[in-house]
Amino acid sequence: MRLCALELKDFRNIASARLVPASQATLVIGPNGQGKTNLLEALYVLTTLRPLRASRFSELVRFGQPRARIEGRFELAGAERTIALDITAEGRAASVDGKRAQSLTDYFGGLSVVAFTPDDLAVIKGPPEGRRRLLDRAVFNRFPGHLDASRIYLRTLKQRNHLLRTGAARALVEAFDQALVQAGAEVIARRLALIAEMSDRLATSFEAIAPGDGGCALRYAPFSGALKTSELSLIAETFRETLNERIERDLERGFTSIGPHSDDVELRIGGRAARTFASQGQQRAVILAFKIAELENLRARIGVPPLLLLDDVSSELDPARNRFLMDYLRNASLQCLLTTTDERLVASAAMGQDTRAFFVERGQFRERAMGEAEEGP
Ligand SMILES: Nc1ncnc2c1ncn2[C@@H]1O[C@H](COP(=O)(O)OP(=O)(O)OP(=O)(O)O)[C@@H](O)[C@H]1O
Ligand SMILES: [Mg+2]
Repeated sequence: MRLCALELKDFRNIASARLVPASQATLVIGPNGQGKTNLLEALYVLTTLRPLRASRFSELVRFGQPRARIEGRFELAGAERTIALDITAEGRAASVDGKRAQSLTDYFGGLSVVAFTPDDLAVIKGPPEGRRRLLDRAVFNRFPGHLDASRIYLRTLKQRNHLLRTGAARALVEAFDQALVQAGAEVIARRLALIAEMSDRLATSFEAIAPGDGGCALRYAPFSGALKTSELSLIAETFRETLNERIERDLERGFTSIGPHSDDVELRIGGRAARTFASQGQQRAVILAFKIAELENLRARIGVPPLLLLDDVSSELDPARNRFLMDYLRNASLQCLLTTTDERLVASAAMGQDTRAFFVERGQFRERAMGEAEEGP
């Protein structure tokens, strides 16, 4: 896929903008608080219908305005498509080529985006939720059906938990188990499938980024720890058995204690749990390796690389790792947008390629000739 043009109206602090990105690196340069992340957020929301930062959709509308609009022109499998999203306090409406999108599959067909933000760097040591989100974002990209299964699972879980919390009879609670098990098993199976695809790539890219650190491994850490299969029907069977084993406890505690909503993703460096032992630099290396592995896996499976969004990542990486990332971007033949407060950190990603640079100030974007001084002529 390729992003050919992006148009924004009243999206956060961006009143109006129209950008034509380069086919390779596009730099977005500006001081703090000017709208760099907002631009990437608009692209992320448009292409995934999921927020980049934890927020309500209505927060994306510029203060005092009734609606925000994000419109992107993409080249997808050789055809041009215009995808647009309107956001109001009431909700959002997605369209493809001016017509309301009939289904999510219709809307997403061919879109894929990998985002890397400083928030990602905290997930290694943080609670399991962050690692599940990291994995799920990658799973959504690879298997679009993951979105539906996850939604059905969470909706059913909410209903079951409501019954548990309000002291409903056991039979009533168990009436939800069939739907919970079915959607839950699908969620787990897709997570396992992606991990199986990505593991070797992750090990390879980690070795390139941090040679001599003992290697990196990725493993799914499911509810009972007893999941020894990646086959859907067997996952469902194990999940159902574990739910049955736990029902007394769940009735007592008032919530569903196990399932894909409580599973974890384990990353190991040199055979040790990164969550406990990884240094700051190693955490960054793991996440960088994860994003590159995700991207290269998509390129290999789908045939085209996803759009890469890097939000001020270079300032978080040490010079050697930043150099690794810049070398990768220069040689990887993919389209990326990079934000930065300091152009020097990312300039080498844009050397000798089809690149563009924009300067952003108070939500306004101005294209700059490459290498032009920040103050402008
Ligand atoms: N709904 C909104 N309406 C108008 N302005 C908003 C809205 N939401 C956020 N902002 C403003 O957007 C600005 C932040 O933009 P953004 O997060 O893109 O900054 P940034 O350039 O990425 O900065 P940094 O370098 O600090 O990350 C802030 O000034 C904030 O007040
Ligand atoms: Mg920012």
